[in-house]
Amino acid sequence: MKPILLDFPVPIISPRLILRPPQVGDGVIVNEAVIESFDVLNKSMPWAKEKPSLEDSEEFVRQSAANWILKKNDEPYLPLFIFDKNTNKFIGGTGFHHYDWDVPSIEIGYWLRASCSGQGFMTEAVNAQTQFAFKELKMKRVTITCDVNNIKSKKIPERLGYQLEATIKSNRLDSQGKISDTLVFTKFDLDGLLNLPVTWK
Ligand SMILES: CC(C)(COP(=O)(O)OP(=O)(O)OC[C@H]1O[C@@H](n2cnc3c(N)ncnc32)[C@H](O)[C@@H]1OP(=O)(O)O)[C@@H](O)C(=O)NCCC(=O)NCCS
Repeated sequence: MKPILLDFPVPIISPRLILRPPQVGDGVIVNEAVIESFDVLNKSMPWAKEKPSLEDSEEFVRQSAANWILKKNDEPYLPLFIFDKNTNKFIGGTGFHHYDWDVPSIEIGYWLRASCSGQGFMTEAVNAQTQFAFKELKMKRVTITCDVNNIKSKKIPERLGYQLEATIKSNRLDSQGKISDTLVFTKFDLDGLLNLPVTWK
């Protein structure tokens, strides 16, 4: 099937969280969260080189909403915004990228609002997304990559039973411009995921 014709039954819902695609008008909430978290994001996310303006953030959510229809395998890919189910607070972003619908395989990336860290929200979100990838999208391979020195990031696939498949040497620059290594974590089935209820539309 042509990617543009794929339908994803989102939102994805887990005990504390709702994950949904960005919508027109979300620029305000994402901008506030990125500005709040900028010092952390600047060290790890290639897109966080400069503080975004409100217009930059609104442009990003509109391009994202458009790509949820187009399914282009390119920036901004398929972001999912994460909300606290009880308070409706925007707590961060995750999403699918580098998809190959023929294998099929997919990659997951993520960032958390600084004030929402240390509560297991991202582990819960990536657990939900991984379940969705295998059960709904019928993926055969789900990948998470991170810098070898991004300890908080690598703990997430480790907690969820992803295997360290490879360490790719000297293939990236860290935030200081120093050459660094990439860890590739992979999952081929649901083994090792958290036993939390996850549903989607
Ligand atoms: C990577 C990142 C999302 C991790 O955030 P985090 O808060 O450590 O992740 P979680 O939300 O899953 O929380 C896990 C922490 O909460 C604790 N926790 C509390 N309640 C928990 C629960 N119910 N379930 C799991 N963990 C829980 C865990 O013990 C863990 O703390 P620890 O690392 O001190 O052991 C965050 O650091 C970030 O956004 N970094 C910048 C962007 C980035 O690097 N993205 C990844 C690029 S590859």
